[in-house]
Amino acid sequence: MTKNKLTPDVVVKIEKSGNRYNAWDTNGDKRTSEITSGCRKNAYNGGYLLGRFPSNSAKSGFSWRKWSGEVATETVVNNSDPISVDIPSEHAEVLAFIHGSYSLKPKGLMMTELKWKYLIRSAVRGKNMMMTGPSGCGKTMAAKALVNSLDRPDFYFNLGATQDPRATLIGNTHFNSDQGTYFSKSLFVEAIQTPNAVILLDELSRAHPDAWNILMTVLDYGQRYLRLDEADSSDTIKVGDGVIFIATANIGNEYTSTRVMDKALMDRFTVVEMDVLNEDDENSLLTYMFPNVNSDLISNVSKIATLTRTESNSDTARITSGISTRTTVELCGLLYDGFSLEEASEVSIYPQYDNTGGVDSERTFVKQIVQKFCDDGSSDDLFNEDEMAEAVSEDTN
Ligand SMILES: Nc1ncnc2c1ncn2[C@@H]1O[C@H](COP(=O)(O)OP(=O)(O)OP(=O)(O)O)[C@@H](O)[C@H]1O
Ligand SMILES: [Mg+2]
Repeated sequence: MTKNKLTPDVVVKIEKSGNRYNAWDTNGDKRTSEITSGCRKNAYNGGYLLGRFPSNSAKSGFSWRKWSGEVATETVVNNSDPISVDIPSEHAEVLAFIHGSYSLKPKGLMMTELKWKYLIRSAVRGKNMMMTGPSGCGKTMAAKALVNSLDRPDFYFNLGATQDPRATLIGNTHFNSDQGTYFSKSLFVEAIQTPNAVILLDELSRAHPDAWNILMTVLDYGQRYLRLDEADSSDTIKVGDGVIFIATANIGNEYTSTRVMDKALMDRFTVVEMDVLNEDDENSLLTYMFPNVNSDLISNVSKIATLTRTESNSDTARITSGISTRTTVELCGLLYDGFSLEEASEVSIYPQYDNTGGVDSERTFVKQIVQKFCDDGSSDDLFNEDEMAEAVSEDTN
């Protein structure tokens, strides 16, 4: 038998809610977002508790592992009834809930208080929401954080990865010699019938148009039903009371794989535009996530990202997209693991930019920006956009 030498400072129990595995600590606080989904799923299937232990290798300073030691089990919250919706009904209570909700936002998610409160308000008011913005700006993260902070059964569907929308959203028709033809309903059918469920439709903009057609009636506040067989007037499934949908979409950006979404589909959502972080917010986020990485390096990463974003939005843009927060987080992870800024950029930034056109290529342009910050690590005089543009054009001429 293995012995745990250390005692964890937090112990959680995993509960299944919809198709997600939520982690509850002994105080009844939700810890889902702190633990990877694989780790939670294994603990649930293996029927064991997880403990939080200090770790030098994890950037958070903690790691979650199986815990089979002592725990005051009577204080483990048993959330066997996942429908513990505590949405207030009196207007004064609703107001207090919305305006006191900023504390529910995880610290690691950078989002303005206004936007976060707008998300909570939309959820409380039963609105379908669509988070829009360029790739890697935190759409999925914000949608998941919102789902986590609402104590409701939740379901996750990645529509961008679905090849067969009908099978995912409706179900499959099977045949065997005993039963003949029979129909098995999808998990989505179960999800929409679960009262008060919060259903995440990730990457809706990349979904097959068939998926959009199937979802039209489901999302319409006046209809709210799913037809099991589109071909005839067969069975329809009613969307349960209080069910809301949260979608994410890459709209208005450079991604060609993103199909242009139908206006009628868009109209079925309250659109929440995710902001691309400014330099200060980027810097605060990275500093919060990587307290052990040199602050000058972090500040340079934020500056590089901001310069590329400003450039990509300018009228004379020489690059089609800026460096995303997803990439700056990856970059800082590499810095934390001992890579230099130059090395980290080479593997995580440059491959995202087109190399064709030699010295005029997007990649060359981005390389030049990065290299200004690699020389001595302090290029304070280069933050002026015009100077930087000048420096770059001098180099290329
Ligand atoms: N606003 C933000 N606050 C905190 N972290 C962020 C933010 N934006 C991006 N990140 C980081 O980038 C990663 C990717 O974010 P996320 O998956 O939410 O992007 P997305 O907008 O859904 O992108 P895509 O359109 O490619 O799906 C996150 O795991 C997080 O580390
Ligand atoms: Mg996403």
